[in-house]
Amino acid sequence: MQTYLTTTTAAAALGLALFASPAVAGEAAVGAAEPAYSVWMAESIMSRGQGIMTGQGGSSELLQAGITQRALGAVAMRYPAGATTPRITQYLEESAASVVPFTSNATYDALSYPMDRLSTGNALIGLASTSDNETASTEARTAADALRQSIDLNRRNDLGGLWYYVYPNWSYLDGMWSLAPFYTHYALDAAFHGSVDGSSENATTEALDDMVFQLDLLWNHTYNATSGLLAHGYDASRTAVWANNVTGASPHVWGRSLGWYSMALVDTLQILPPTGPACKYRDSILLKWRILASGLLQAVDAATGGWWQVMDEPGRAGNYIESSGTAMFAYALLKSARLGYLPAEDVMEALTVGTRAQKYLTDAFVVRDANGTLSYNGTVAVCSLNSTATYEYYVGQPINYNSVLGSAAYILASLEVEH
Ligand SMILES: *[C@@H]1O[C@H](CO)[C@@H](O)[C@H](O)[C@H]1NC(C)=O
Ligand SMILES: *[C@@H]1O[C@H](CO)[C@@H](O)[C@H](O)[C@H]1NC(C)=O
Ligand SMILES: *[C@@H]1O[C@H](CO)[C@@H](O)[C@H](O)[C@H]1NC(C)=O
Ligand SMILES: *[C@@H]1O[C@H](CO)[C@@H](O)[C@H](O)[C@H]1NC(C)=O
Ligand SMILES: *[C@@H]1O[C@H](CO)[C@@H](O)[C@H](O)[C@H]1NC(C)=O
Ligand SMILES: *[C@@H]1O[C@H](CO)[C@@H](O)[C@H](O)[C@H]1NC(C)=O
Ligand SMILES: *[C@@H]1O[C@H](CO)[C@@H](O)[C@H](O)[C@H]1NC(C)=O
Ligand SMILES: *[C@@H]1O[C@H](CO)[C@@H](O)[C@H](O)[C@H]1NC(C)=O
Ligand SMILES: *[C@@H]1O[C@H](CO)[C@@H](O)[C@H](O)[C@H]1NC(C)=O
Ligand SMILES: *[C@@H]1O[C@H](CO)[C@@H](O)[C@H](O)[C@H]1NC(C)=O
Repeated sequence: MQTYLTTTTAAAALGLALFASPAVAGEAAVGAAEPAYSVWMAESIMSRGQGIMTGQGGSSELLQAGITQRALGAVAMRYPAGATTPRITQYLEESAASVVPFTSNATYDALSYPMDRLSTGNALIGLASTSDNETASTEARTAADALRQSIDLNRRNDLGGLWYYVYPNWSYLDGMWSLAPFYTHYALDAAFHGSVDGSSENATTEALDDMVFQLDLLWNHTYNATSGLLAHGYDASRTAVWANNVTGASPHVWGRSLGWYSMALVDTLQILPPTGPACKYRDSILLKWRILASGLLQAVDAATGGWWQVMDEPGRAGNYIESSGTAMFAYALLKSARLGYLPAEDVMEALTVGTRAQKYLTDAFVVRDANGTLSYNGTVAVCSLNSTATYEYYVGQPINYNSVLGSAAYILASLEVEH
């Protein structure tokens, strides 16, 4: 009998570093006149105390913690001997511990937080696996288990699609980056798998089947073959004011939601082993990413090298280049070129486009503060389908200064450029 459970506790420790780039011998952060942008932005995020959950930070606070953990883990992995790496690792542990009180009751969490809650799961697996503090480790484990269990408790539409939040039958692209890498990592990790889902290989199969199924359902309901892009979400009951009467899709392509979906595909591919029974799940994800990457290369703005807030209305009055979606696409394209997820004919273009996009972000949105920190501009606030979902709605949402949804994605893009 073949086993799916290929990873070990040692690999679970990777949860802390969050499946980052392999370490390099050279140390870009040391001895240079300025630190690498990835390290510099990470230090700046920490100096602002961001990504630590307080319960007072609004509806996206768990997602802010999750993306901050992801970025800090990647920096620590890339620069293991960096001068600030011990502090980055400690901060990552503090961030993971800070979400424990908010994620340890599966019933409550599943019903009161959006899918975003799951974005913190891999850092909790990492903390549980590596902490010397037994209490902290046990608490992190409880929270990781509760998050996993909350997937089973999450409400679903008639098709089996997970609701993103409290809105009946609606599924969003945005939830997938929080769901898929955690669902996959947990299912494949021998130290975790089975504690809440029956301890059988079937449970791993069911989890991975469902993970791919969720990506698939969203794709089938939101993909537009003309643009090569995916709409923000869909309503399976097609009753929402914005729902397409055939597919249920919302009318517009929102940059950051497609950014989350892109990162979901690429980060999950990195977790799925290239051999063994679980490798079969790679095929449909790889196929989706190749189609989507081609759509992203088409949709990039020729003048700036960034991507529009409303991607299906490039250049329309009120539309603008948005700094979180652009960072996510730059990261996903560069990483997938590096790891061989793209067909040969797209690799050079993906590298060129991704590198140019990160440079544009640095020039247009990174602000050098007098005291030496970096700030980050141009990241749109939350865009919800609990709205008219019109063009005017998307371009009328406020711009946030120093949103980690943008600056942490910028770190991930910058790490790829620094490779
Ligand atoms: C979780 O929260 C629910 C709803 O508030 C509550 O009924 C339940 O007792 C809690 N479970 C645990 C284990 O604390
Ligand atoms: C261990 O972790 C617990 C829970 O996070 C914390 O309250 C305690 O202060 C930690 N102990 C030490 C020695 O750091
Ligand atoms: C959600 O879908 C179910 C099953 O199709 C349906 O009964 C229910 O009315 C839908 N809810 C809304 C608010 O459309
Ligand atoms: C696993 O799945 C197979 C095929 O669906 C089924 O025959 C078997 O009973 C399941 N085993 C367990 C332990 O649930
Ligand atoms: C999505 O569409 C493809 C192609 O039509 C189909 O094979 C697949 O079963 C669909 N997936 C879901 C979850 O509906
Ligand atoms: C698909 O995209 C094209 C090009 O952006 C657009 O004209 C068309 O309305 C879209 N179709 C749907 C169903 O949204
Ligand atoms: C669906 O919407 C389209 C475009 O608004 C409309 O032309 C068509 O008649 C509608 N079909 C149904 C079955 O309502
Ligand atoms: C650095 O300057 C920025 C911009 O003025 C400010 O927001 C931030 O609080 C300062 N950071 C520190 C550590 O003083
Ligand atoms: C941030 O961007 C807005 C435009 O979106 C601009 O008005 C503002 O001056 C920028 N802030 C800084 C500090 O550059
Ligand atoms: C959905 O939108 C309505 C109308 O703006 C608002 O009253 C309600 O609080 C929103 N629901 C949630 C869960 O944010």
